[in-house]
Amino acid sequence: MKQTILVTGGTGFIGSHTTVELQNAGYKVVIVDNLSNSKSDVIDGIEKISGVRPAFEHVDCCDLKAMDGVFTKYPDIQGIIHFAASKAVGESVEKPLLYYRNNFTSLLNLLDLMPKHNVKGIIFSSSCTVYGQPDPENLPVTESAPIKKAESPYGNTKQVNEEIITDDINSGAPIKAILLRYFNPIGSHPSAIIGEMPNGVPMNLIPYVTQTAMGIREQLKIFGNDYDTPDGTCIRDYIYVVDLAKAHVKAMQRVLDTDSDKLEVFNIGTGKGVSTLELIETFQKATGVKLNWAYAPRRAGDIEKVWANPDKANKVLGWKAETSLEDTLKSAWKWQQKLRKEGLQ
Ligand code: UD1
Repeated sequence: MKQTILVTGGTGFIGSHTTVELQNAGYKVVIVDNLSNSKSDVIDGIEKISGVRPAFEHVDCCDLKAMDGVFTKYPDIQGIIHFAASKAVGESVEKPLLYYRNNFTSLLNLLDLMPKHNVKGIIFSSSCTVYGQPDPENLPVTESAPIKKAESPYGNTKQVNEEIITDDINSGAPIKAILLRYFNPIGSHPSAIIGEMPNGVPMNLIPYVTQTAMGIREQLKIFGNDYDTPDGTCIRDYIYVVDLAKAHVKAMQRVLDTDSDKLEVFNIGTGKGVSTLELIETFQKATGVKLNWAYAPRRAGDIEKVWANPDKANKVLGWKAETSLEDTLKSAWKWQQKLRKEGLQ
């Protein structure tokens, strides 16, 4: 049995898939989640897939005393993967203080508690949002591309949290950290036992696509077809959530088992830019379902084009995105069909 890992936000979309991969790799997992945006029955799903039930504590990472109690209860925790955060861009513009309080306090609590409880490493969920719109000469974007002023309080919490971890390590804190900058995570576990559960009307593209395909939404709107891209629609780097989850396992091994630098940053993407239109066409081809879609005006705050140069993660972490976009979209559709079968959506 390998080390014990605390996964904050472990019942969420990326957290649940990462817990499965950690357990498949032999790690013991303790999940902490306040269930503000997820349900505890995800734990059953994780157990069904991996054959192991992770420990679960219904605790809010902003509660310092309760978090201290978690580390005391599980003295073997050696690493943390910190997913727990508020993540809706639009909501963050309306409720900035909620976002700052939640996303900063939870990280500060973990950094305070790590040395006290001899926790060696932390992997932080960051985002390509820190690059904003990279200048054309910086595409595909590498980790050394300039950080642009954040477009939303949510984006700002990612940037500032990266700085908080950096300053803490530079001050001599006895910890190591890896910042993973995710591109656009999509899809669900091939078993369709766990997946993405959007609250209300989805803001992100894939849940909107699958809900439209299911007839829950009448029509998918493509936001803007007059961008400076080959077909006029925005370009993103869509990364399969299971591949992304595996990147966390590699990062955790590196932090805990090697003498790597105390702080490292990696882009986690496929390296392939895909336009919204291409994505819709691929979905239709992969699933055989015809989508009702139409062009609509641009969405405020959208980035025109961004995709990763994942060379550093490929070489240094020994990780590579492996799953095709077709298979990824099939998994998202399978999950949507399962939600319908269970009467959930
Ligand atoms: C957004 C956030 C990003 C966050 C990520 C989380 C912004 C500006 N960025 O990324 O910070 O980390 O979600 O997953 O909000 N689209 C449509 N129609 C739709 C929905 C989306 O055309 O109904 C298009 C968007 O214009 C975009 C692409 O699909 O070009 C992907 O959109 P989305 O899934 O919302 O992700 P991002 O905007 O890339």
